[in-house]
Amino acid sequence: MQKKWWKEAVVYQIYPKSFMDSNGDGIGDLPGIISKLDYLKDLGINVIWFSPLYKSPNKDNGYDISDYQAIQEAFGTMEDFDRMLEEAHKRGIKVVMDLVVNHTSDQHKWFIESRKSKDNPYRDYYIWRDPKDGKEPTNWGACFGGSAWQYDETTGQYYLHQFAIEQADLNWENETVRKEIFDMMNWWCQKGIDGFRMDVISLISKPDVYEDGPINTGDGYSGVGAITANGPRVHEYLKMMNKEVLSKYDLLTVGETSGVTTEEAKKYAGSDTNELNMVFQFEHVDVDADEHGKWTMKPMHLPDLKAIMSKWQTELEGKAWNSLYWNNHDQPRVISRWGNDSEEYREVCAKMFATCLHMMQGTPYVYQGEEIGMTNFPFTEIDQVDDVESVHIYDTYVKENKEYTHEQMMKIISKKGRDNARTPMQWDDSENGGFSTGTPWLAVNPNYTVINAKSQVNDPNSIFSYYKKLIRLRKEHEIIVYGTYDLLYPEDEKLYVFTRTLGEEKLLVICNFSEETVELPEDLKAMIVEQKGILIRNYSEESEKIRPYEAIVYQL
Ligand code: GLC
Ligand code: CA
Repeated sequence: MQKKWWKEAVVYQIYPKSFMDSNGDGIGDLPGIISKLDYLKDLGINVIWFSPLYKSPNKDNGYDISDYQAIQEAFGTMEDFDRMLEEAHKRGIKVVMDLVVNHTSDQHKWFIESRKSKDNPYRDYYIWRDPKDGKEPTNWGACFGGSAWQYDETTGQYYLHQFAIEQADLNWENETVRKEIFDMMNWWCQKGIDGFRMDVISLISKPDVYEDGPINTGDGYSGVGAITANGPRVHEYLKMMNKEVLSKYDLLTVGETSGVTTEEAKKYAGSDTNELNMVFQFEHVDVDADEHGKWTMKPMHLPDLKAIMSKWQTELEGKAWNSLYWNNHDQPRVISRWGNDSEEYREVCAKMFATCLHMMQGTPYVYQGEEIGMTNFPFTEIDQVDDVESVHIYDTYVKENKEYTHEQMMKIISKKGRDNARTPMQWDDSENGGFSTGTPWLAVNPNYTVINAKSQVNDPNSIFSYYKKLIRLRKEHEIIVYGTYDLLYPEDEKLYVFTRTLGEEKLLVICNFSEETVELPEDLKAMIVEQKGILIRNYSEESEKIRPYEAIVYQL
């Protein structure tokens, strides 16, 4: 297998708004980030991926960009950015930028021009269509609710927006649009950044024919993401991008690709396809979805999760490269979602999930706060929620179609909503968790007095120290990066057991996803008798049986 620095790296995701506030306005910022770079260096990560830092009206917290070459005022200035880049590089940390080019904000100068008239030079930067029988051109529904088409009085046409109304889809068919985007990317690369995480990149190529989809969203629209995912020209566009930009630098590139299959992933991230390094797939985080999509309390069934993870591990082996994640700014905290975040189990549980993920083949991503075991937030009222997605779904299910009661919906939002990941980073046990001296834009989780970075950095048994060790082990043992993966006991409902193999070396990873103490199968015991050592474990004392949320990695 070809060796690459980005295969050996561990990436840390920063959600700038919630990481560290330096000036007391309640919003995280670049000087705040700079002040925490030593913390990240201590953790041992190699790369930071920044959720958008660009200028934005913040309808979707920076994923609605109004200027790709300016920093959002609340985060600081371009000088602050340059200083951050330099300080990160000084510490051996690379910087990956979010690239949101499926859409722009409706406040971007291109869109402001585009909507002025049908013959404006920017008209064709976006996707405009005539009404059909006086209504939307198709029944496509936006990801955040309602139609994916917005009527614009000025010209009597609709524009396409797969996300919020204020996020207008760019027209990738237009060569000038592609050129503008590639120029902008080159500009950032020349500044010295080290890669891109590409927002919803699987959705940039729209179908050749615009027609109604099968109706399937809560409010009677057809989910547009399913219609536009992996469109007819997406690989052509990415090959162009690779040629014009990516191939000129030594970058880490990861595409966020909803609706991606392993077959498609081999095209996006194939070792010889000249597109991206890796993709974020969604199958494993959709494992607990049902007819209401993610808005359900359906529990995760471990054999399903194992089947998905294992499929990705084995099908990409030697052909493409996996990204590994449980958490990000769009996902709830995994220990609250699929584990147990109670006082009793939180720590072992967080360490178990980390072990399971970091022992797989692929590049692991750590989302801010994950390394200290941050949990979901106990939302009880909708006005505690900021996220455009949760607010829309609340309106749809509680106010409009009465699918759920207020209490039911708030419970689901506390389990699945995106704000669970977006509450401010818990640095210490002082007011607001040390995040801000002002009023944070989103409330700090009340458990900051117990769960915070300060109490963990110097504790050798903390979750933080455990992540540090996992990250160090990856650097010390090639097998963790490059070894092949084999799943054992696929049907077991409590244990996730797999091996990694590289030449003569073998690792055995055992993770208990349950709260029960489990007897190991005899053949596994026989394997363990032969062990050469233990690489890492989340319980200190020995035991015959595998305890609740226990994780242990043997060298065989
Ligand atoms: C991606 C981002 C998400 C955002 C959406 C629209 O899924 O991760 O946060 O809302 O794209 O840009
Ligand atoms: Ca601030």
